[in-house]
Amino acid sequence: MTTTETRQPVLELRHVNLHYGSVEALHDVSFSAYAGEVIGLVGDNGAGKSSLIKTISGVNVPDSGEILVDGTRRHWRSPHDSMAAGIETLYQDSGLAPDLSIGSNVFLGREKRRRGLLGRLGFVDQTSMEHEALEHLARVGITIPETNRTVSELSGGQRQAVAIGRAIAWARHVIILDEPTNHLGARQSAEVLKVITSAREHGLCVLFISHTLPHVLEVTDRIIVLRLGRVVRDAPTKEFTVESLLGAITGLNE
Ligand SMILES: Nc1ncnc2c1ncn2[C@@H]1O[C@H](COP(=O)(O)OP(=O)(O)OP(=O)(O)O)[C@@H](O)[C@H]1O
Ligand SMILES: [Mg+2]
Repeated sequence: MTTTETRQPVLELRHVNLHYGSVEALHDVSFSAYAGEVIGLVGDNGAGKSSLIKTISGVNVPDSGEILVDGTRRHWRSPHDSMAAGIETLYQDSGLAPDLSIGSNVFLGREKRRRGLLGRLGFVDQTSMEHEALEHLARVGITIPETNRTVSELSGGQRQAVAIGRAIAWARHVIILDEPTNHLGARQSAEVLKVITSAREHGLCVLFISHTLPHVLEVTDRIIVLRLGRVVRDAPTKEFTVESLLGAITGLNE
C-alpha cells in the first residue's frame, strides 16, 4: 500500500517493553496498523505473540512504551477498556458458552433488555437478539440454518465462525484472532479465512496469529515476524514465500 504513510493508523505501538519477572517477553516493539488491513503476526513458540496481543487487549500492562488507538494514547487497566475502545480479541479458546444459543452467544455480556418494566426487571429480548445475531453473521458471510440451536450442536468450524462473527459485530477498529484455524479441517479453515477477508471489507484492521504459514500468506496484506520478543521483519505479504518466512521466524540463513 503506497498511501499508508499519509493515513492515520487505527492502532500503533511505540517502543513497547514487557517482562514477566526476569523474562523479557517483548523488547522495543513498534508497529502501525491501518483500517482495512489484515496483518499476520508470526513467530516460533515463545516468540511473544500472545504476550503482544494480551498487551494490546489490556490483559498485560507494558513496562514501558505507548499504545495509540486512532491517534490517541491509551492506558488499559483491563480488557474492558480495550473493548470499549473498539478492539475485540478472540483468544485461542473462543470463549463461547456451549449451552447457550448462537444469538445469546453473539450478545453475551451485552444482552438486549426488553422494553419498559420487564427490561428494567432484567428480562432480555431473546427474539430480537436471535434475529439480529443472524443478521450480524450473514453480513460477514456466515450462514447458519437455525440460530436457536445451541453452540454445542455446531461443528468446530461453525463455532469458530460464530466466535469471529461476534468479534466483528462488536469491533469498531481492530480484531485480534489468536490461531483461529487451529484444529480445523481444510474446508472449515477456508471458511474462517473467508470471514477474515470479510472483516477487512468491513474496514476493520485484523491481527491474525497463526503457525500455519500458507494461511498467513493467503489471507494477509502484511506480515510482522517476532523473534525472542523483537520485531525482526515487517513487510508486505507479497515479499514473502513459505521458505523466506520460515527463515525470518527461525533466524536461520541470516
Ligand atoms: N504468564 C507468564 N509468566 C512468565 N513467563 C511467561 C508468561 N507468559 C509467557 N511467558 C514467557 O514469555 C515469552 C513469550 O511467550 P508468549 O506466550 O508470548 O509466546 P508465543 O509467541 O505466544 O508462543 P506460542 O506460539 O507457543 O503460543 C516466553 O519466553 C514465555 O515463556
Ligand atoms: Mg501464544
